[in-house]
Amino acid sequence: MFRFFSALLLLGALVRLGALAQPAMAGEQFVPIKPGAGQEQIQARCTICHSMDYVRINSGFLSADGWKAEVAKMRTAFGAPLDDADAEAILRYLIENYGAGAKG
Ligand code: HEC
Repeated sequence: MFRFFSALLLLGALVRLGALAQPAMAGEQFVPIKPGAGQEQIQARCTICHSMDYVRINSGFLSADGWKAEVAKMRTAFGAPLDDADAEAILRYLIENYGAGAKG
């Protein structure tokens, strides 16, 4: 169990290093996302490891089920610290604002 968590910590550190190594785009790491219910939770919970670019790149491409699988993967595979209420709010936000067929 301890080794599992060390591996996760290491993975997190590598992701952060990767982020530091990226050329600064527009001079900052902060990637603005659309305003809406759930925005606060996603901004707080999902930017621990990577920027919101990851969400925007998949915008309009992932269906409701796709986003559901994505959030589940962030929790189970990468250990994103989310309680069920946060996960639910984030999922609704993603489907509404960045789901396949969402406007913008
Ligand atoms: C514990 C670290 C961590 C947290 C927290 C996290 N992610 Fe990720 N995320 C990753 C890693 C690592 C990858 C790259 C995975 C890969 O290359 O397959 C990734 C990739 C992604 C991708 C790109 C598609 C993919 O599967 O590679 C999306 C979209 C994404 N994350 C969304 C989210 C959302 C939404 C949240 C909040 C619910 C979140 N992430 C929180 C670690 C995290």
